[in-house]
Amino acid sequence: MDKKQIHKRKDDHMRINAEENVQSTISSGLEHFYFDHQTLPELDLVQIDTTMTIFKKKQNAPIFISSMVGGTKETSELNFLFARTAQAFGIGMGIGSLRIGLQEPQRMRYFALRSVAPDILLMANIGAIQLNNAVSPDDCQKLVEQIGADGLVLHLNPLQEALQPEGDTNFSGLLQKIEKLCHSLEVPVIVKEVGWGISEKAARQLQGTGVAAIDVAGAGGTSWAEVEKHRLSNQSSKAIAEAFRDWGISTAQSIQNVKRNARGIQVFASGGLNNGVDVAKCLALGADYCGFAGKFFRAAIHSEELLQEAVQEVIQGLKICMFAAGAADIDALQKITLRQR
Ligand SMILES: Cc1cc2nc3c(=O)[nH]c(=O)nc-3n(C[C@H](O)[C@H](O)[C@H](O)COP(=O)(O)O)c2cc1C
Repeated sequence: MDKKQIHKRKDDHMRINAEENVQSTISSGLEHFYFDHQTLPELDLVQIDTTMTIFKKKQNAPIFISSMVGGTKETSELNFLFARTAQAFGIGMGIGSLRIGLQEPQRMRYFALRSVAPDILLMANIGAIQLNNAVSPDDCQKLVEQIGADGLVLHLNPLQEALQPEGDTNFSGLLQKIEKLCHSLEVPVIVKEVGWGISEKAARQLQGTGVAAIDVAGAGGTSWAEVEKHRLSNQSSKAIAEAFRDWGISTAQSIQNVKRNARGIQVFASGGLNNGVDVAKCLALGADYCGFAGKFFRAAIHSEELLQEAVQEVIQGLKICMFAAGAADIDALQKITLRQR
């Protein structure tokens, strides 16, 4: 795929996410779980502690802004806005795919986020499929160093690529390359889906590869089948994409799949998270860190103020949920067993 096509695709993705309803028709599954309400929490709300540490960096809350924005001029201001917000709230952030930066190094300036976010947990991002397209562990190390990232997210998106006319679909032999990358990179590698979740089998495949965390990016939020459908003009290709709107493993199920089958690997939860109660449920189900893409994207395209309100709302919602569930800190929250309806 040439440079122009990559730019156009990223800009299309941004525009479609901003203008269309691209939500999956299935839910994150979190509504099936609930906390026992504690009417005698024996806690003071103002003392609830949401801090935790991930990859040796202290976080004010167990949440991060998920990988979204790539290196086009039109969208780079959004990345800076996300980075300023992450810095202000003491939370983490993922960058969108850096593939563009490999092909056009001058575009790396659009990812110079350390200038506004010197302290945050910052995660670089590239499609795992690029490891089959001659992108080497050295290339990945360079990208990480250039942006000063604390980790590299490798996104796995076979279904998305299959629905794109220009998609890269040779996903064979990737596991071995992921393992090689984990052993040569100087920062942790996080493997993530893009909205269809992680199966028990995929979790087992990743165990022992050296992957530090799996971000489940489960079904229940942004549906990339729907996003890709809006980019297609051919009716038959649109019909194929439409049939995948409710595809995927829910976020709640994916967290459990990873927790039970990839021991020793940290679990990042994302996919359809909307509020602080969702975050608390993911943590009680076994997650360590929770990502928001669609919700924060829709706020950020309106204004920085709305994005900050959205982040504040999630953190305050999490605190109140912990208070009402009787958990003084994140450790206590993760020890609670949720009930199921
Ligand atoms: C506008 C937008 C752009 C995205 N771009 C990327 C990307 O470049 N790399 C990636 O790994 N995931 C990307 N994603 C996927 C998200 O990181 C996330 O996994 C997915 O949208 C599910 O979360 P959500 O339901 O909160 O949106 C993008 C999501 C959105 C909404």
